[in-house]
Amino acid sequence: MAMSTSQSALSVEEQAALVESSKKAAAFQAVKDYLESTFQHVGIGSGSTVVYVVEAIAELGADITSKMSFYPTGEQSRQLILAAGLRLAYIQDLPPDASLDVAFDGADEVDEDLNLIKGGGACLTQEKIVATSAKKFVCVADFRKISPRLGTSWKKGIPIEVLPMAADRVLAELKAMGSLNPRVRSGLPGKAGPIVTDNGMLIIDAPFSPLLLSKDTESGIEGGDGEDGIWTVDALAQRLINIVGVAEIGLFHGKN
Ligand code: 5RP
Repeated sequence: MAMSTSQSALSVEEQAALVESSKKAAAFQAVKDYLESTFQHVGIGSGSTVVYVVEAIAELGADITSKMSFYPTGEQSRQLILAAGLRLAYIQDLPPDASLDVAFDGADEVDEDLNLIKGGGACLTQEKIVATSAKKFVCVADFRKISPRLGTSWKKGIPIEVLPMAADRVLAELKAMGSLNPRVRSGLPGKAGPIVTDNGMLIIDAPFSPLLLSKDTESGIEGGDGEDGIWTVDALAQRLINIVGVAEIGLFHGKN
């Protein structure tokens, strides 16, 4: 959803306050709608929106939450779970034939088919493991995140987690595929060197021109397999995950 004229007339401080209140409202609504008191296993994603998800869960009180275990997607959410006094558990300790009841997470961009770009916080691999282990995945996103085509509002590129030894080769392959200026994500301000993920890997951000809706028939455009730089979400996801040295990609498939 684009900012309306009245929203864009807001001061920087007012816009920031609007974003925060939208994140909080979305998070509290999501917990109200999708967390059932009978649930036992709950996935907790990463990012600033998820902070409000954990706040909303903690506000339900120990009568409800003490029967639940919470599964993080990285160090940030691990700390959030602990700080809220919730029971921490790890996805590797859940039997492989068992599922989380629900997982809550944020997103960097969401298209109309509910395909997502995730990984702005470099947690995409663990996020995808937790998301795909859940019976229901709830994406909590404020009004800035919705766009007709992925790559429209999130211009930094698709986050791709790579083995450090393969980073240069993956970069070369991405350039050959038509990604514009793919690059290894660098460290936090004042910290030299690349960001190293919770898995000891690097993140490459690979911009592509806005991706098409996942069905060619809906977009009305034939192909979408990278010819002329045009990709469908499905074709690009398949191509990226098959690059040797890529551990996981920040494209999450929606309802298609
Ligand atoms: C982290 C993620 C986050 O969910 C995504 O970046 C959204 O973060 P925020 O809620 O701070 O906007 O994918 O890897």
